[in-house]
Order: sequence, then structure tokens, then C-alpha cells
Amino acid sequence: MTGRPPSGAPVFGSVSGAPSGVAAAAGPPTPAVEGVDADAALAKVIVGLSPNGVLVTDASGLVRTFNQALCRMVPLVPDPIGRTPIDALPIPAIAEALSPGRTDEAEFPLHVGRIDLLVRVVPLGAGLGRLCVVQDVSRLRQAERYRQEFVANVSHELRTPATAIAGFAETLLHDPELLAPPAVRMVETILRNSRRLTDLFDDLLQLARLDAMDTPPPLQELALKAVVDEVFDKHAAQAVERRIRLVASLSDTIWVLAHREAMQHLLGNLVSNGIKYTEAGGEVQVRARPRHAGVIIEVIDNGIGIDPTHHERIFERFYRVDRGRARSAGGTGLGLAIVKHLAKSMKATVEVRSRPGRGSTFRVWIRGGESGGASA
Ligand SMILES: Nc1ncnc2c1ncn2[C@@H]1O[C@H](COP(=O)(O)OP(=O)(O)OP(=O)(O)O)[C@@H](O)[C@H]1O
Ligand SMILES: [Mg+2]
Repeated sequence: MTGRPPSGAPVFGSVSGAPSGVAAAAGPPTPAVEGVDADAALAKVIVGLSPNGVLVTDASGLVRTFNQALCRMVPLVPDPIGRTPIDALPIPAIAEALSPGRTDEAEFPLHVGRIDLLVRVVPLGAGLGRLCVVQDVSRLRQAERYRQEFVANVSHELRTPATAIAGFAETLLHDPELLAPPAVRMVETILRNSRRLTDLFDDLLQLARLDAMDTPPPLQELALKAVVDEVFDKHAAQAVERRIRLVASLSDTIWVLAHREAMQHLLGNLVSNGIKYTEAGGEVQVRARPRHAGVIIEVIDNGIGIDPTHHERIFERFYRVDRGRARSAGGTGLGLAIVKHLAKSMKATVEVRSRPGRGSTFRVWIRGGESGGASA
């Protein structure tokens, strides 16, 4: 029951002769009742049988009707009809969403005891009050938690043998006496692929942790330049290997309201992409400037670029523009999904500007400023 009812008479109005209040869960309307009355009676039966909690207010904001399912989900007073929502059920978020002055739609999660609820409130139309539908999503949330735990456990278990394989392959390659020349290429392939696996498991683990996070990470004022330097240090070997120049163009005075590790991962993923998707001899630059009570950070490369048709989708999990190329570059399509998640957890936003062959700019807006100077 999430759609709006057809315009006209209020759907849950009492059937002639029937008491108003709890929508009936009784049998179907009698054949003698026809037209609008029959529709109203039918609507009342449907609402009464709905597994979702339903509450309707009239134009003046008072409770007009509700169903039994609602009583099982939220602490409703025994005689709510005619009361204001806050008197009928002491949940300020719902009462606020039902206030008669509002004409917008609202949707928000709610925890009542151990039950996870999803509340949707919509206007019924001019002069008709508002409809509140409450859905019990506890089982859905639990299934989601099991899935996250499963992914986290599997990633953790598989990471250990993959790390061992990479370690032994590396040792073999470092000692030329251990390998006959034809075996070197094979062991290099083993090393490359086992590193891909550990990267994939790390990404999956991080996403599972982010998904499972109930509260956002604590944020603090961080000097951005120091974080960028750490990110560049971490990716220096990858950049040298691919002959990409890393350039930091930002002042030491810029600070951001962020979580250090989250910020490192966010910028690390963008810088790593810049390195991966830029031809040898190219450049990846990180710029930052204060703007509107925040800071704009740009990670700019002069690489292969991305066609605008993919801009929305590259932030989805496992989405890669060119699967073949991304795979040979070692990509699994999780990096930008993590970036988006991390940005959200720090109340930051990310967008991309790019054209094929013209490089890419990933722009992050985050709260922050410049110490010793007003933000522009
Ligand atoms: N700077 C960039 N230049 C060109 N294409 C990019 C750039 N950044 C991302 N892309 C495209 O977007 C896709 C998704 O990026 P994302 O970082 O999510 O995954 P990935 O780099 O393939 O793998 P992962 O980051 O998980 O190792 C990439 O496969 C690539 O096609
Ligand atoms: Mg990536």
C-alpha cells in the first residue's frame, strides 16, 4: 500500500452504518452496497488485512483511521481516533511527518524495540490529510546482515591462502637460482593473479564493514596535504611501474572534516584509478581549494577518460567500463563503490567529469576550510 489512492472520496472513510476506527478485517462487502460505498468497504477490508501498519489523518491532522497491523508494530494508545498523531502514538518522527501543514512525501527507518520498521508518509490529496504506511523490515534487515557477515567471513578466509601464494611467488621471483627462465613468466602470472585476489578480498571486506556500520565514523579536522602525501607514498611503486607522475597541488593550510583512514581509502582509490587508466608518461594530480564552507578536492588524470553514458554507473559495485581492460589493469569494479560509500559516511559528495581520450576529473566536496584564511 504505497501508491496514492485515486482522487475523489477518502478511501478509508467509514462504510455507511459501520463504526469508524480500526479498518475491518471482516469478510467482503455485501453485494447490496454498490458504487462508492462498495469501493470504500473494499478498501477498508484490504487495509484491515494488510500486513503493513496503516494510519490516516484527516485534513486537520487528526487520526481518522488505522489498522490492527499498526497496533502490533508501534505503541498506539487504545482510542486514537480523533487525536493528534503525537497523542495517538508517541513517536515524534511519525507525528512530525503527519503534521497537516506538510504536503511532501517522507520515508525513514525506525527502530521500535528490536523491530526494524520502514515508515512512508504520503499526502492523500487536497483536503484529505495524510497516509502513513509502516512496514516491518526486520527479516529483510536480518537477511542483509547475514549476507554481509557471510561476505566478510568468506573474504577473510580466502585472503589468507591468497596472501601466502603471493608471498611464495614473490620469493621465487627474487631468487633467480630457484627458477628456470621459462618458469619466470608463469610465476609472474601467479603473483599478479594472487595480488588481484587479495585486492578483491580487501575491497569486499571493506564494503562489508562499511555496510555493517550502524553509525558513521567519528570525524576530525585533518590536514589534507598530509593525507595526500600518505596516499602518494602508498601508490608510489604503482606509479613508477606505470611511469605516471603524481602531483600534489594544494596548500598545507587546507583542512577537512574527515576520518583519516576513510579519507586515505577514498583518495587512494581515486589516485589508483588515475594511475591504472592513464597511459605511461601521463600524470595524476590532486588539487584542493576551499569552497562554500567546505573543500573541493579534485583528482585529475590525463588518461583514457570515460564516456558520459557510463558516469552514473561506474559507482555501482562490479561495474567496469571496459571489462577486458579493467581486468588486465587488475580492476574488479569495487573501488568507486567504496569511494561513494566512504564519501557518504563523511557527508561528502563525489562526481565525475570525463570524456574519452580527454582524461578524467573526480571531484569530491567535503566539509572543511583553510586555516588562517576564510573559506571562499
Ligand atoms: N580515472 C579513470 N579513468 C578512466 N576510467 C576510469 C577511471 N576511474 C574509473 N574508471 C572506470 O570505472 C570503472 C570502475 O572503477 P572502480 O574503481 O570502481 O573499479 P576498478 O578500478 O575496475 O577496480 P577496483 O578499483 O575494484 O580495483 C573502471 O573499471 C574503469 O572502467
Ligand atoms: Mg579502481
